[in-house]
Amino acid sequence: MDLPRLSASLHDCQRCQLASGRTQVVFGTGNPQASIMFVGEAPGFYEDRQGEPFVGAAGKLLTELLQSIGLERSDIYIANVIKCRPPNNRDPLPDEINTCKPFLLQQIELIQPKLVCTLGNFATQTLLERKVGITKVRGQVIRLENFVVFPLFHPAAALHQGNLRVPLKEDFQKLKTVLEQMSQTPTLPNTISQPTLSTPQEPPKETPADPPIQMNLF
Ligand code: URA
Repeated sequence: MDLPRLSASLHDCQRCQLASGRTQVVFGTGNPQASIMFVGEAPGFYEDRQGEPFVGAAGKLLTELLQSIGLERSDIYIANVIKCRPPNNRDPLPDEINTCKPFLLQQIELIQPKLVCTLGNFATQTLLERKVGITKVRGQVIRLENFVVFPLFHPAAALHQGNLRVPLKEDFQKLKTVLEQMSQTPTLPNTISQPTLSTPQEPPKETPADPPIQMNLF
């Protein structure tokens, strides 16, 4: 399997109810050899029309944030957890996430990024496989088996809540440092920061006990 074939295999996907309302499947875009991948939530209005992730207002902010650390969109690969637009941009439902998640994991497996920046709660929780608030883990380096996860606030959240813009910009500066450190070491970093994943006030909804942080994706 390669990315174009995977994309083609999803072209007419009918696995969930989102198929009926979408204009097209938004598979992902960017450099298939990228060592950095960004993962958002789901396509919005403009993404559904154009067939590319992050082409609307949130995408413009994402492009600016990337440029602030010397990256262009062509340096990275971007995809979403959900490949079809939910009606009225509602939150993705658990069964939609479960249906689409294997294709995100396949994309990651084919691209083999060293670092995956998850944008917002849905992408972060999907890849970490636990119910954790983005406010708690954003800007932390979380090592999984084959790559590092670096959660960030979703740019759309920063557009709606002005108080998130400064922390988001700061986290991008931290991302720059992480990337510099990673470029100097052949292996994935494991000592940059220790994630603090949950508090007694915010228990995971679906699992009674927190699994250990070292998780296997593949
Ligand atoms: N928000 C997302 O999460 N993904 C997009 O592609 C656009 C907006």
